Amino acid sequence: MSVQTELLKVLEENRNCDLSGQELADRFGVSRNAVWKAVKELRAAGYLITATTNRGYRLEAENDMISEAGIRVLLPENRKSLPIYTYDLLDSTNDEAKRRLANGEKRNILIVAEEQSNGHGRRGRNFYSPSHTGIYMSLLVHIDGKFEDVVSITTATSVIVANAITQLTGKEVQIKWVNDIYMDGKKVCGILTEAIMSCEAGEAPGIIVGIGINVSTECYPNDITDVATSLGKTQGVTRNQFIANISDGILKYATNVKDTSYMEDYRRLSMVIGKEITYFEREEAHSATVTGIDDKGGLMICTPEGEALVLRSGEITVRLKIS
Ligand code: BTN
Repeated sequence: MSVQTELLKVLEENRNCDLSGQELADRFGVSRNAVWKAVKELRAAGYLITATTNRGYRLEAENDMISEAGIRVLLPENRKSLPIYTYDLLDSTNDEAKRRLANGEKRNILIVAEEQSNGHGRRGRNFYSPSHTGIYMSLLVHIDGKFEDVVSITTATSVIVANAITQLTGKEVQIKWVNDIYMDGKKVCGILTEAIMSCEAGEAPGIIVGIGINVSTECYPNDITDVATSLGKTQGVTRNQFIANISDGILKYATNVKDTSYMEDYRRLSMVIGKEITYFEREEAHSATVTGIDDKGGLMICTPEGEALVLRSGEITVRLKIS
């Protein structure tokens, strides 16, 4: 481990506390100058480290850099050994997870990037992923399950993320079927679950759950500026806290994919139940009213002709009532 990595680990474990330069040097078996050099490197990378004469070094509470050490320290004891890979820049955290899976990765792993050059969402759409203002994470999980479990892990993830946002920030969010998270009528988070299937057995040995949350992004490209929003002020809650909380929730769920208790929250948080929607079938738009969500996450609708249908996948738009 480099001095920089060791120092960051100790600083994250003692956030907002002063640590003596001499004690750090003794602990790492290096000179005080080497510690100071590592502090300067971390500062150059963006870490908020204060140096005070006679008191030492302190990682400030408001420091919001994503790091492996910063996430790990916030994970519960039983997840401390989760392999975590963090990057300044990736094409896509989902694509990195797929590459690792293709190279034989058998463990559950977490991949996080400060920026994505090719972040993508469902139906090949872009996911805008600017530097240091969002959360772009993918969990590769191996479950002992079938294809239908991929659908439930996606649905469960939207509840886990929505609850994490509300618990950590006090902000109310809603879920737009299937799994977009909305705040004040605009999208704040997208989830892309991809499964690598074994066709013969209908099993999904590797599931990649990709989550993108707009945290402090202020400006969006023209084409999404009317529909995207950010969490905004998170009252001192760091992105590492969201990542640790969400990862723990998904890994817990992955050990018990038959548990459907999250559906109660899914329905409570749904922004579509009772609403008039437009859904698309073979590119053709149809109107319907949403009557509920079934236990498998299917959207129960009633057509204008009074026919009851269940949509299992696809895109819908919610019609706003103009009064
Ligand atoms: C959607 O809105 O359709 C889903 C967006 C999912 C974006 C996340 S960001 C982390 C992960 N990497 C990607 O390329 N996509 C997901």
